[in-house]
Amino acid sequence: MPPSGFLHKMFSSLPPRYDLLNRLLTWGQDQGWRRKAVVECLKDRPRWVLDLGCGTGDLALQLARLGGPGARVLGLDFSLPMLEAARAKARRAKMEIAFIRADAAHLPLRPGLLDAIGSSFTLRNLTYRNPGAGQYLSQAHEALRPGARWVMVETSQPPGALVRWAFHSYLRCLVPSLGSLLSGNRGAYRYLAGSALGFFPAEEVSRMLLETGFQKVTFRRLLGGAVAIHTAVIRFLSERSMSVPRLLQRTPPQLPPLSPSPRVVIVAL
Ligand SMILES: C[S@@+](CC[C@H](N)C(=O)[O-])C[C@H]1O[C@@H](n2cnc3c(N)ncnc32)[C@H](O)[C@@H]1O
Repeated sequence: MPPSGFLHKMFSSLPPRYDLLNRLLTWGQDQGWRRKAVVECLKDRPRWVLDLGCGTGDLALQLARLGGPGARVLGLDFSLPMLEAARAKARRAKMEIAFIRADAAHLPLRPGLLDAIGSSFTLRNLTYRNPGAGQYLSQAHEALRPGARWVMVETSQPPGALVRWAFHSYLRCLVPSLGSLLSGNRGAYRYLAGSALGFFPAEEVSRMLLETGFQKVTFRRLLGGAVAIHTAVIRFLSERSMSVPRLLQRTPPQLPPLSPSPRVVIVAL
């Protein structure tokens, strides 16, 4: 059954002018930001890499191009028109990418299959005022093997007041009107601008990723902080179990009351 809902409907209406608007609204910088995220994503030479929320496939294509023959790239999205545009682009570029239609809330992948996930401008849609946020994040976490990483490029909140004011004014005034003029879809570009206005600062994104279970979480700001590249890594099990401070910080489990006979309580770490 095709997924329903506001986001699915909205993204399915965008493809004809989506790439053009991405280039225009970012002054041609979006592909450069994706490239930076791709370099970070391919750092450990992953074999299985997923572009989560691949849209028209710009990140997936860069992953395939830079990942070389060793990388098997998958692109996943719930919008069929987005996937069709992505598949046509991959065919023209003679890139072998497997595109999957699925909802990120239920990734149809074996747990621990992936060596890396890359996402460009998808995280915001999965987490901003989205009641399914926890489920999306934990599905991505579950699909990655220990040692694997998720690299996300996303809009962010500039820490400096002046840059933040300029960025927010741009989002309020120009994005909805230019988006509406060129795509004929005012509602979509109002949503995209509104979600960028209200999206979490980078520190808050880091907190969410740590809460999901990622251990090494970092971010890098671009364009004065209007955009950020987040990297979240799942540590190897040995690294995790050797961390004494981590053990001490754990909230003690509710133990049963002591009984006269000696008991051994095993706590899974
Ligand atoms: C802002 S677009 C970004 C597309 C592309 N990654 C890019 O860089 O241009 C967000 C994409 O995420 C997809 N998406 C949003 N929620 C999703 C979900 N729950 N499951 C799968 N895809 C989703 C949308 O269909 C859309 O293609």
